[in-house]
Amino acid sequence: MQRRDFISGSIALAGTTLINNRLMSQSLPTSPEPDAGVADENYWNKVRALYTRPDGFINLENGYFSHQPASTLAFHQQSEKDINTRNSVFMRKEQQAAIESARTSLAGFLRCDAEELALLRNTTEALNIVIMGFPWEKGDEVVLGNQDYGSMTEAFQQAAKRFGIVLKYAQVPLIPNSDEEVTEAYQRLFTRKTRMVHLTHLINLSGQVIPVAKIAAEAKKRNIAVAVDSAHAVAHLEFGIADLQADFVGASLHKWLCNPLGAGFLWMRKDFIPELWPLMGDTSQPSNNIRRFEHVGTRPIQTLQCIPESIAFHNKIGSALKEKRLRYMMHYWTSKVAKTPKIKLNTPWEDATRCGAIANVAIDGYTPGKIDGYTPGKLAEILFSKYRIFTVAIEHPAINGVRITPHLSNTIKDLDVLVSALTEISSS
Ligand SMILES: Cc1ncc(COP(=O)(O)O)c(C=O)c1O
Repeated sequence: MQRRDFISGSIALAGTTLINNRLMSQSLPTSPEPDAGVADENYWNKVRALYTRPDGFINLENGYFSHQPASTLAFHQQSEKDINTRNSVFMRKEQQAAIESARTSLAGFLRCDAEELALLRNTTEALNIVIMGFPWEKGDEVVLGNQDYGSMTEAFQQAAKRFGIVLKYAQVPLIPNSDEEVTEAYQRLFTRKTRMVHLTHLINLSGQVIPVAKIAAEAKKRNIAVAVDSAHAVAHLEFGIADLQADFVGASLHKWLCNPLGAGFLWMRKDFIPELWPLMGDTSQPSNNIRRFEHVGTRPIQTLQCIPESIAFHNKIGSALKEKRLRYMMHYWTSKVAKTPKIKLNTPWEDATRCGAIANVAIDGYTPGKIDGYTPGKLAEILFSKYRIFTVAIEHPAINGVRITPHLSNTIKDLDVLVSALTEISSS
């Protein structure tokens, strides 16, 4: 189907029911087998046609959030219109059924029990429920990673002041040689006082995937609770909740699932549901009901209503093919610049088990402390102002470079433009 036909189809459908609208994701062509399909540009051009690309620049910063394909966008708009029309009748009589339907669909996608799944606004909210609500005792120790996301680190630092817990930071190697090297970075900090380990499944700074299940197995031997930040892993890497061997998993659905902004979840092992304090007071639900963590007040239900639609779109491509394609795009450009003098990759890009779409690149001379003003920020600025490529600079004690995050809406040509820009900058 040509893009114009698809869009006019969307508009025609927009006036019909949401059920019909959901069928729009079916307009994607049947996906090829993962091995054959990963470089089938004919297929990817059809997928890409469902996204609206920005004018005037190439977006290689899809890590913040992912834009939605036209089908999800139209579904969202229709859903908002519908709620706006039915108003409080929807909120009072139909809202909960809509939430439950989204919960069932997401549980199917994550291969977990829906009664262990709270639908929330994002990863930050999900993991703050865990960090602020865990039944801490003064002196309890937590092991977190030196490259964990800032909001989680800050939440733990606040909890340390408030509850008297002690934080220890595992130094995760940038380019590990083995899973054991990463596992050991955490394991060596475990003591008899450790109550929780916090793991970032796919590190946003570098794109590194850490061996969550192996670290969790070591934690379990010592009765340590395992909390996982899967913000960048869900709908990017193919896995089910049980594969992680965790007790808590938080993620955002506006990242790789391409759901509209403001949807996330917290999965919590059943035994913990009565143990944690909800972030917002709740006495209306029984203490063993996961819904006690969803007491967030009036919220945009249309965002949650989109979850089944976003999953339908994702499934039409298929998790295995999508993961392979995202890694293929990362590998396409990293392999072309890896040997270029002055260029350094801060991602284990050659090891398919340790990365996906994201990679971090540094160029000699654009590293803090060398030449005044020549930082990763400057490199990102040059990429944007001179080459019209939008990226994000990472300036962090553990890693300095520019993060490159392609998505399904990018073309191979976009990556060629990036390769020429990096080559030219590094030789100037
Ligand atoms: C690893 C990681 N965790 C958590 C978050 C926070 O996600 P949100 O802002 O959707 O809560 C991000 C955002 O980029 C992230 O990269």
